[in-house]
Amino acid sequence: MNFHILTLFPEMVMNGLNTSIIGRAIERELLSIEAVNIRDYAFNKHQSVDDYPYGGGAGMLMQAEPVYQTYKALTDKMKLGEGKRPRVVYLSPQGKTFSQEMAEEMALEKELVLLCGHYEGIDERVLEEIVTDYVSIGDYVLTGGELPAMVMVDAIARLVPGVLHNDVSAEFESFQDNLLEHPQYSRPEIWHDRQVPPVLLSGHHVNIEKWRREQSIIRTLNNRPDLLEEANLSEKEQKFLQEYLRERGTDCP
Ligand code: ADE
Repeated sequence: MNFHILTLFPEMVMNGLNTSIIGRAIERELLSIEAVNIRDYAFNKHQSVDDYPYGGGAGMLMQAEPVYQTYKALTDKMKLGEGKRPRVVYLSPQGKTFSQEMAEEMALEKELVLLCGHYEGIDERVLEEIVTDYVSIGDYVLTGGELPAMVMVDAIARLVPGVLHNDVSAEFESFQDNLLEHPQYSRPEIWHDRQVPPVLLSGHHVNIEKWRREQSIIRTLNNRPDLLEEANLSEKEQKFLQEYLRERGTDCP
């Protein structure tokens, strides 16, 4: 899969994504990530890419033309075939909230373009012309789209086959099945007087799996009860949940 990040701060994005699991996946050619500097497509001799907003207001706006030229240069070299355009995501707090489901869907693309705004945003006209998806990473405002683009690349890239060595680990984790992940422990068996739950040392795989699912249910109940409504619980697990709630003294999440 190929990610193309259009930004005024290419080093920021590349420095953040060239390490660890994603960095290794790039070396192994499972992914490519390029950051294209929008300033390289400035059309005036001062290389400026921003201007005041018509109608007044605080701050500066990124102009349409440098963004468009960056996009045009990129798509011209992509060779997508007649009339084909890549998916272009504009990172913005006004977009649809990013989710695991969205990451899974976008991981199926071969090319994904991420457009990062800065300052007060980008001239609306170029957004209308090139953007296919508006995505926010949460209800807070950042200074630019670079960190959100990095978040998206990380979440999507790890779903590309082969990126995680252990393919099952992308399957059984938080948000799979709408349950949060169970707690995990490693050596030593006792740390600061805290004992690893004995069932994990028992070697009894059925009991371990049951305990993990129950822990996931308890965690989801306590931290994200909204997810629990969509979780796929077996009859036994539903009984476990009712029992847990009764012991806790509440009948519903
Ligand atoms: N740009 C600024 N804030 C953002 C957010 N929360 N999500 C995506 N892009 C942004």
